[in-house]
Amino acid sequence: MLYGRIIGWGKAVPDKILTNSDLEKMVDTSDEWIVTRSGIRERRIAPEGVNTSTLSVEASQAALAQAKLVPADIDLIIVASSSPDHLLPAVSSEIQHQLGANCGAFTLAAGCTGFVYALVTAQQFIATGAYRTILVIGAEVISRNIDWTDRNTCVLFGDGAGAVIVQACEEATGVMAFELGSDGAGAEHLMIPLGVANPATHDAVDKGYPFIRMNGREVFKFATRTLARSAAETIGRSGLSIHDIDLMIPHQANARIIELAARQMGLPMEKVFVNIDKYGNTSAASIPIALTEAIEEGRVKEGDKLVLVGFGAGLTWASAVVQFGLSEKPAGKGWLAAPTRTVKAAQNKIGVAARTASMRASLMLVPLYTRVSRKQRHEENGNGQQPK
Ligand code: ACO
Repeated sequence: MLYGRIIGWGKAVPDKILTNSDLEKMVDTSDEWIVTRSGIRERRIAPEGVNTSTLSVEASQAALAQAKLVPADIDLIIVASSSPDHLLPAVSSEIQHQLGANCGAFTLAAGCTGFVYALVTAQQFIATGAYRTILVIGAEVISRNIDWTDRNTCVLFGDGAGAVIVQACEEATGVMAFELGSDGAGAEHLMIPLGVANPATHDAVDKGYPFIRMNGREVFKFATRTLARSAAETIGRSGLSIHDIDLMIPHQANARIIELAARQMGLPMEKVFVNIDKYGNTSAASIPIALTEAIEEGRVKEGDKLVLVGFGAGLTWASAVVQFGLSEKPAGKGWLAAPTRTVKAAQNKIGVAARTASMRASLMLVPLYTRVSRKQRHEENGNGQQPK
């Protein structure tokens, strides 16, 4: 059995910082509204000429340097992105060329969930022995698809890229278990309408089809239904319990969503990595950027068990339990093969069911919570006017 060990990591964000007070001058919003509703204080915006491929190459070079490898060592490149440089060719080929790699490359689009999908995909190529060293990237320049007059969306997003190098290893490491999910019934809640169904005509541009449209309330409800359940399910599948998890690295879309998920799981916030205040929602880049920062800040140690969990356009979700590096207590041949792990998995199924029941109770509070916060806001603002 071959496992995919994460041996390199890197990130790249544009230098230009757009703060909440900058946004106050652009749309009818306030720093107070953005911070309390989302936890975001600032985000990075790519200037003209800096594209998804540019940030991807920078993040990949950092990951290669960390792994002490050169582009020629890469056997495959998988890029998760919903904001490619062009509709054709795939941005993965542009990255492969700019990086100077000589290998296959493809792009995978699964919204903000894309990086977890890509990491799990890389693991499959390694497990079969098809490839030895894979570069996995999550990258977005989503600012180009934002309507900067729409306060519902423009305050939430930012640009960036994160990359990891995954290499074949005979000792147990890397992705221990995962869940990939999709519910296209919710597609309309988060979309950029431009595409084959709405070709790029003047009319399409006038209608705002190149820009993100989001029903924030529906996406919020979806996230609070999904994030904790998926993470708990995957932890159970890995044969671990919540207490075995050293750090959860969730998709950084909204600090309230992250805190609610942690509460539902019974995971203390000290075990959750949050950097949304600095970058906003960087979509598929958010988890690899957060993973890189968590490692650089010493929050991740050799052998640690991590949960990566995301949700996004599709609607999609994905979670993976990942062991970083090698553990002093090896899990045996095959994560779930050893009898002890099978017993542990069965025990944890009971734990997962109990946690899911408690999550249901807290999920029932979400509509109430939303109603109360809206009522409070209404009272604070007199006639329901937005705070200036
Ligand atoms: N500044 C001030 N007021 C605003 C702003 C703003 N920037 N944006 C919206 N509002 C107003 C609206 O007009 C609305 O006013 P109304 O109640 O008078 O109609 C009100 O604020 C919105 O209220 P709520 O929807 O109750 O606000 P909520 O507390 O739910 O927060 C938010 C909104 C932050 C968008 C939240 O719903 C959210 O985070 N949803 C999830 C979004 C998300 O995660 N998207 C990314 C998915 S990942 C991907 O694939 C890209």
